[in-house]
Amino acid sequence: MRLLFVGDVVGSPGRDMIKEYLPRLKEKFRPQFTIVNGENAAGGKGITEKIYRQILESGANVVTLGNHTWDNREIFEFIDKAKNMVRPANFPKGNPGQGIVYSKFNQHEIAVISLQGRTFLPAIDCPFLKAEELVEEAKKRTNIIFVDFHAEATSEKQAMGWFLDGKVTAVVGTHTHVQTADNRVLPEGTAYLSDVGMTGPYDEILGMTKESVLKRFLTSMPVRFEVPKEGRKQLSACIIDLDDATGKASKIERILINEDHPFFS
Ligand SMILES: [Fe+2]
Repeated sequence: MRLLFVGDVVGSPGRDMIKEYLPRLKEKFRPQFTIVNGENAAGGKGITEKIYRQILESGANVVTLGNHTWDNREIFEFIDKAKNMVRPANFPKGNPGQGIVYSKFNQHEIAVISLQGRTFLPAIDCPFLKAEELVEEAKKRTNIIFVDFHAEATSEKQAMGWFLDGKVTAVVGTHTHVQTADNRVLPEGTAYLSDVGMTGPYDEILGMTKESVLKRFLTSMPVRFEVPKEGRKQLSACIIDLDDATGKASKIERILINEDHPFFS
């Protein structure tokens, strides 16, 4: 079977790209299951119920989150009802929502796990210990396990890839918004990519306006980052091929759509 994973949707430019290209990507690559990281989908920070539903309607089966999970206060009203949404599992005890979601398709079941790194990010519970615990739990139900590792440091992401090699189908990084070129299947059958990249503005800085980010660098003053309303856009994703029975990956390919890398259907 085949999985499609689309990286961090940033604001309305990212949502527009999802609406336009998700159906086209599904038609071209025919994935049986689609996962989208939506932690920046509402104005660059967090997600609303309406946007969560829009992403599902555009063709996603599960939406993953990250360090901006709680940044849009609306989340507290719907996260416990959102059965196809997963926030980092290693948020400390007492956080609402779920860190693992099981989803059925055809005769199979997939476990989607979200984890967040701790290097250059808040000191939450250990993602490695949480991964071990959840993988053990998931293995009782299915061999098809996808991990979105939302982390800043490439070393921590690589460490997670090697830690889970042979135990899960894929470890794909999110959060840094620039797609890395290190897609590979690790020796024991886990597909790995340090960062899938971002879906949103193409001519800005990590999805936020150049002017606002530059002002912060030039003045060291607090500046509010904003998602631009207009401009060129991009979509970042990856496709993973796997064995239905063993859950082991055989291939992981990167997808990047922008004016320098046009989409051919
Ligand atoms: Fe993030």
